[in-house]
Amino acid sequence: MKQTKRSMLLGTAVATLLASNLVGASALPETAPAPANNPTTPAKVELGKQLFFDPRLSIDGTISCNSCHNVMSNGTDSRATSVGIDGQRGGRSAPTVWNAAFLSAQFWDGRAATLEDQSKGPPLNPIEMGMPSEEAIVERLSSIPGYVEQFNSVFKGKNAVSYDNMAKAIAAFERTLITRNSPYDRYVSGDKNALSQQAQRGKKVFEQSGCSTCHSGANFAGPTQPIGEGFYQKFPAIDSDYDKKYKLSDDKGRYEVTKNKDDMNKWRVSSLRNIALTAPYFHNGSVATLDEAVRVMAKTQLGMEMSDKDVADVVAFLNSLSGEFPEISMPRLPETVNNSLVGNMK
Ligand code: HEC
Ligand code: HEC
Repeated sequence: MKQTKRSMLLGTAVATLLASNLVGASALPETAPAPANNPTTPAKVELGKQLFFDPRLSIDGTISCNSCHNVMSNGTDSRATSVGIDGQRGGRSAPTVWNAAFLSAQFWDGRAATLEDQSKGPPLNPIEMGMPSEEAIVERLSSIPGYVEQFNSVFKGKNAVSYDNMAKAIAAFERTLITRNSPYDRYVSGDKNALSQQAQRGKKVFEQSGCSTCHSGANFAGPTQPIGEGFYQKFPAIDSDYDKKYKLSDDKGRYEVTKNKDDMNKWRVSSLRNIALTAPYFHNGSVATLDEAVRVMAKTQLGMEMSDKDVADVVAFLNSLSGEFPEISMPRLPETVNNSLVGNMK
């Protein structure tokens, strides 16, 4: 009967999901699907990795993708909100790039369909990397001989340095950022000892209290959607003191993209892969610890006060979603001779 009440609170979409207990569906796959026009090849991945680590994609040579998405660790910057050029800060927290290849829509509000689309944003964003135009980026990349050579070879052309191809290469690299073999993955693949007793209790609480109605599927981000479509839910869905305390409603979320009233304060349901490693939490990074994030979720999404024991058990379960991080070596970036390219900017 508790569930019925909750279903009413959550609306019919989620109520339907409640019926089909989707958690525990499957482990993460070994490879991420790539679009037909951007097959993943080793040379492209290597080029994309260099671009990902290259601060010359920012106007003054200070910020690379890796500055905000550190793939030598958790794929984020561990800050509430990120710091771009000239110390500027935006209003949202950097999500991890690990396993982002499995998301059907990118960004907290799902405004980019693919990793290719997504990676065209930051270089031109005035508070992130601050480049003035696509042409300026292409011009800069074209003055680095090592890039020209690689673009031409990877994309099979004479003038293959383009903004689109930059995005394709970066996306190809990101598709290799997969963390498999978490204790949870081993558990669902049959190793019943992979989860501690506490984590197993937490899994039950997670399922029975209704977390899994939204956080379902292999990514714990909801039912599989076609590329470009996200699984959006209102957050906070139920009023509580947390709203004011953590300024949860200030940012209107998906509404900012669609200007549709139904999307007010709607957000993509976050993936919970590696969630124990990516504090602080939520779109504004306002919650510092995972146990508090679980309490906030229980209250704002399910209308329940979760006991300390249940919170601790759920956190133990969420800890079991941390996977194995493949070794990444820092790439050597192609040089420019007698010219720093960014030395005289600003
Ligand atoms: C100054 C910090 C900063 C830089 C530089 C930056 N990002 Fe981000 N990234 C963010 C923030 C903040 C968000 C979330 C923004 C939002 O949702 O509105 C984000 C979102 C993303 C996402 C979406 C992940 C998800 O779960 O939706 C991907 C993928 C990503 N960035 C990759 C990149 C790549 C590739 C680059 C370099 C071309 C890059 N980022 C540069 C801060 C940064
Ligand atoms: C009605 C849908 C819904 C339910 C039920 C729900 N969540 Fe969420 N969850 C979301 C949404 C949407 C977000 C993204 C919030 C944001 O934009 O800040 C989220 C975010 C989170 C985050 C933070 C992710 C991050 O990267 O910062 C955690 C942790 C989390 N949920 C855990 C839980 C737990 C544990 C439960 C059960 C107590 C739960 N959720 C129940 C929809 C839901």
